[in-house]
Amino acid sequence: MRLASSSLVAFLAAVSLAQAADGDTKRGAQLYRSCVACHSLEPGVHLSGPSLAGLWDRPAGKTTGFARYSKGLKSADFTWTAEMLFAWVADPQVVVPDTYMSFRGIEDEQQRADIVAFLKLAMAPERDKRVVEQGLLPAAFARGPRSRPLASAPDQARVTAVRHCGDSYFISTADGATTPFWEMNVRLKLDTRATGPAPGKPVVTGAGMQGDRVSVIFASVEEIKRFVEEEC
Ligand code: HEC
Repeated sequence: MRLASSSLVAFLAAVSLAQAADGDTKRGAQLYRSCVACHSLEPGVHLSGPSLAGLWDRPAGKTTGFARYSKGLKSADFTWTAEMLFAWVADPQVVVPDTYMSFRGIEDEQQRADIVAFLKLAMAPERDKRVVEQGLLPAAFARGPRSRPLASAPDQARVTAVRHCGDSYFISTADGATTPFWEMNVRLKLDTRATGPAPGKPVVTGAGMQGDRVSVIFASVEEIKRFVEEEC
């Protein structure tokens, strides 16, 4: 089933929307906090979900630079009106059955009206700044999580070699230490953002006090191939 039902969804949402009292942007901003882990309101900043900047009244599933749309949302032919957003935050799967947005939905109609009132401000062109200036949302929530730059990691976090043998990784760092980890507790990750590791300088994170779990973060696939060796 594809989006053939979107006009029906919009119709039903419009009926419900008309029944709900006017949305309150302040309460909506509070509710929007459940979206910030996956969405930025800053243009071009894509997290697990696409940036929502400037999407009000714009076509769904068409944001440039976001490469992970579901087939359904990518080929959708509706725009983000109040009615569609009202239906979307109730249950994204009703609008786009194969959507990748895993969100349990907001049942309460008044709460949906509130968040849509907030989104009308937040998703209007260039308005991410306005919701911050009006004190509706802290700047960090509008922008999305910002990572500590990995390029400036200290020697004990700078990986020089990753050896695998049996069921273990042996991770060597620039301070001269080599630490063993069970293979199931090591994640090999890529971070190609500007805040990611410098080329050729992978970084290990997460080995804290009780740190038996770590991530080794590389700047490219080629580096994973170069650094990770099978050797006993
Ligand atoms: C767990 C992560 C996650 C959460 C939480 C989340 N989203 Fe999403 N959102 C996504 C993903 C992933 C997509 C892309 C879905 C697809 O391609 O099917 C998306 C897509 C969207 C879109 C469509 C964007 C476009 O380009 O057309 C809107 C609008 C949206 N989300 C709004 C919200 C709102 C509002 C909330 C909070 C009530 C929220 N999302 C919570 C991950 C999330």
